[in-house]
Amino acid sequence: MRLVIIGTRKTGTSLALVRTALKRGLAVTIISNPEDRLEGVFPPEVEIKYLPADVSIISEWIKKKHFRPENALRITTINDVYACVAAQVNSALGLPGPDAFAVTRAVSKLQQKKIFTDNNIPTSGYSEFRLSDHKAREDALLKLQLPAVVKPSEGTASNGVKLCSQHSEVISHLDYLVNQKEQRPDLVPSDTVLLEEYLPGTEYCVEYFDGHYVGAMRKSKRYGTEFLERGYTSELDIDEQTLLNLIGTGARAVEAAGLSWGPVHIDCIVHNGFASIIELNPRIAGSFICDIVRDAYGFDMVENLVDKLQGKEVTVPASFLPDAYACVNFFLESDPLPWSFTEQGELRNHLMHISYGPQHLSNRRRRAFVYVRNLMQNFKPEIN
Ligand SMILES: Nc1ncnc2c1ncn2[C@@H]1O[C@H](COP(=O)(O)OP(=O)(O)O)[C@@H](O)[C@H]1O
Ligand SMILES: [Mg+2]
Repeated sequence: MRLVIIGTRKTGTSLALVRTALKRGLAVTIISNPEDRLEGVFPPEVEIKYLPADVSIISEWIKKKHFRPENALRITTINDVYACVAAQVNSALGLPGPDAFAVTRAVSKLQQKKIFTDNNIPTSGYSEFRLSDHKAREDALLKLQLPAVVKPSEGTASNGVKLCSQHSEVISHLDYLVNQKEQRPDLVPSDTVLLEEYLPGTEYCVEYFDGHYVGAMRKSKRYGTEFLERGYTSELDIDEQTLLNLIGTGARAVEAAGLSWGPVHIDCIVHNGFASIIELNPRIAGSFICDIVRDAYGFDMVENLVDKLQGKEVTVPASFLPDAYACVNFFLESDPLPWSFTEQGELRNHLMHISYGPQHLSNRRRRAFVYVRNLMQNFKPEIN
């Protein structure tokens, strides 16, 4: 069997997925954008093909090169920008994967808003317009309620997402997005923007597999107006009833979006015990989220995704609380320099495992990470 990964990153989940596939004896092909420059990132046996993110170009190439009755083929993605392309190529070749219509729809934050509101799933209020439609922009600005979160309808990693407290900030951020749309269509691919009601509260990511909850974590962000991710922890700081409400709200969103195949990642805000959905991603998560789900909740998203692609049965744990402590902290460019790491390394004893290293991700202003987990299998409760 060959696994074709359309759209990848150079870190965490991508490396783990490739490692898992190779360990199981699968051949691996990665299709990515020429600018991604992946030389030396993956083991040499991994085939790398640079192609534009175009469904017919990628399908044609795969058909010619690898589509043979004697060889089973499976396709997945680890990158938001490619989720839609990967799902459509999958569907064009008749291979198993998430529903292409549902993935394509979910890539648009505007479409997500429509799904949530149509299904009475709590989310922030919003208005939307196209950057090129000046009349619609003026109308939206007249009705604007502050503070507001301005965001492109398509995007990832908080690119172009900004909290604005003043009218003038909204206007200058919209002008910035017009410019970004021209200069960086990869970061701002759509002309549509959302003006959202700002939801105060604590942010959580909730992970689902085949529509079932597999783990949640609390997300921390840097101060300021840009929502830069600073870390995730399985220490949820939440009561069980609120957690169940969060899990249930997310599950309804996954179901309403028609994303019942494989991994889905959800961002939520919890305020006064009440959960609202920020957005949903129809793909496996990055940023050590899979590590936390594995180490704290005992469900390995990567192994289970490969299982699912190979046609094996996947069972999801029944428990909903974390068993172990696992957290990641990111150090950003704005942090004191000594917090950075030039080398990677690890510290381990029978109870704890800490790994750390440099991590430079374009557009995230991230410099380094520290990942901490306790090793539950060695934990023996004290008996008084
Ligand atoms: N309406 C909102 N209220 C409060 N915070 C928000 C809102 N929308 C977005 N955010 C913050 O911005 C981050 C990025 O926005 P999101 O819609 O998830 O886009 P992206 O695709 O870039 O992740 C969220 O994780 C959250 O921290
Ligand atoms: Mg998000």
